[in-house]
Amino acid sequence: MKNLSENYVSLSDKKSIIIAIDGPAASGKSTTAHLLAKRLGYLYLDTGAMYRALTWKALNDRIDMNDKRSLSELAKRTKIHLEPEGRVGTKVYLDGKEITSVIRFPQVNKYVSLVSMVRGVRKEMVRQQREIGKRGGIVAEGRDIGTVVFPGAEVKIFLTCSLKERAWRRWKEEKERNPCPTKKEVEAELSLRDKLDKEREVSPLKKAEDAIVLDNTFLSIDETVEKVLKIVKNSLQSVV
Ligand code: CDP
Ligand code: CDP
Repeated sequence: MKNLSENYVSLSDKKSIIIAIDGPAASGKSTTAHLLAKRLGYLYLDTGAMYRALTWKALNDRIDMNDKRSLSELAKRTKIHLEPEGRVGTKVYLDGKEITSVIRFPQVNKYVSLVSMVRGVRKEMVRQQREIGKRGGIVAEGRDIGTVVFPGAEVKIFLTCSLKERAWRRWKEEKERNPCPTKKEVEAELSLRDKLDKEREVSPLKKAEDAIVLDNTFLSIDETVEKVLKIVKNSLQSVV
């Protein structure tokens, strides 16, 4: 039965739907997708965590970040497992070992866009993401979800936010770290990663033609989730 009341969405008759959220770094995708999935009783799929986990392994294995063949082979022999977790959203396992906290390290931030521009790496990651997507009922977020991974997703959102606000939000997260980067350094890192992600040849970061743009520069987390829920309800009413 469908219940479209203000604060609750029952999608029991639409269990197989996929909600795709794409956007630049620190635009609020993970937070929004995680909370949305909780509200809907869906699975949250953090595809960035997969590219980060692989980058962590490449760094540990001292693989040359320009060696596309080695990176592609590494992707094929690597087992990444994502486990839904209440507080952090997702626990990340690399070849059976939990590595959730280390995938946000500065070295991973620095190299992840190089690893994820490799065609062979993306092929393997997308294969795994589609496998997870088969169950339906997921909120997936990343850079190419609406364009490449799930082009048939019932709901597509492209989340944007000004670079200044994104840098401020990410810096607030990182300021506990030692040594703590400056706001300027965080802004430069996000900006470079966005550029690499947008300009790469394979599956660049871009809005799917049928995605709805949501700018959350001046929205709180709760307001962002509410807006997304509204988009989901409206989109579903039009496809039911
Ligand atoms: O959380 P943040 O926005 O900083 O990054 P993320 O979503 O964890 O993604 C880290 C990096 O993985 C991105 O900068 C992209 O280079 C890559 N990525 C990708 O290429 N495709 C995806 N579907 C998700 C992430
Ligand atoms: O996944 P992505 O890199 O796009 O962003 P995120 O990790 O979800 O969000 C980056 C930071 O912005 C987090 O600390 C969120 O709590 C915060 N945020 C916010 O303050 N207001 C929003 N409307 C959305 C996210």
